[in-house]
Amino acid sequence: MTERRRTLAGIKPTGRPHLGNYLGFLKPALAMQTSHDTFYFIADYHALTTERDPKALRQSTYELVANFAALGMDFDAHTFFRQSDVPQVTELTWLLSCVTSIGLLERAHAYKDKRAKNEEITHGLFSYPVLMAADILIYDAHEVPVGRDQQQHLEMTRDIAQRFNHIYGETFRIPDARIEDEVATIPGLDGRKMSKSYGNQIPLFSTEKELRKTVMRVVTDSRTVEEPKDPDTCNVFQIFRHFAPKAEQDAWRERYRAGGMGYGEIKQATFEAINAEIAPYRERYFEIIEDVEGMEAILAKGAEKARAAASGVLHRARQRVGFA
Ligand code: TRP
Repeated sequence: MTERRRTLAGIKPTGRPHLGNYLGFLKPALAMQTSHDTFYFIADYHALTTERDPKALRQSTYELVANFAALGMDFDAHTFFRQSDVPQVTELTWLLSCVTSIGLLERAHAYKDKRAKNEEITHGLFSYPVLMAADILIYDAHEVPVGRDQQQHLEMTRDIAQRFNHIYGETFRIPDARIEDEVATIPGLDGRKMSKSYGNQIPLFSTEKELRKTVMRVVTDSRTVEEPKDPDTCNVFQIFRHFAPKAEQDAWRERYRAGGMGYGEIKQATFEAINAEIAPYRERYFEIIEDVEGMEAILAKGAEKARAAASGVLHRARQRVGFA
């Protein structure tokens, strides 16, 4: 049997996952299970650079566990864990910090943006890319699927790993970035990209009634029922097309162009399409999110596997730098 490639990604816990998170991250991550050895973790160390409410941090962490669990993550075959359950990663961060130049970190987009806006910059934010390098390298990942916004972080990870390998000898596997350009982004309620920071999201898991109500709130233009409409500029259609089969999309495109269709109708169809995909998982989600012990048990199992992988690599790195 050939070794499966290990794919790894961290996801920051930031509230209840929404449909944009589902299409952009959760769904592709779950699909990777069939072909890869997956390591996914809840990046709560990273979240501390922006989240200072302990309750919110804990709740957002559980949301991710419940979402992954409900959607069918196989926690036995794969490794799903909470970043802070593997404190070894902070030790590796230190070893990497000592080969990382300030010049490299000063080029980071997130840091530069904050500077430009004259906002407070913590040391945690500044060294975010080193922590990220550590939590990729410590698991010997082959590849990391990321959006364009994370490409620079991956380049920094590779730079830092190469620098360490150059100084101390072959220690880390150099991971490939798998840039996901095809990743779906969808508009939120106000037509801007669906994002928690805009407050325009449609939660992935809510009751059927809430889902329907939320979909009805997506903004549309003021064309009358009779007027022909353009599906490609319609926010509702841009959500619909990610949940409906091709033939159905084509049929609705026709109806938009022909006129005589009201936005209420496509909203109803969009609600039904989303609901058809999500409904099979909904009950399980509501069960799990209430079961803190169950979620902690899932995390404990993942932590054990992650720690085993991490200690091996950390041991290698410690030896390289001259620790016993
Ligand atoms: N920085 C990533 C984000 O904001 C989250 C993250 C942390 C991550 N560690 C990672 C992603 C390791 C991929 C691999 O989305």
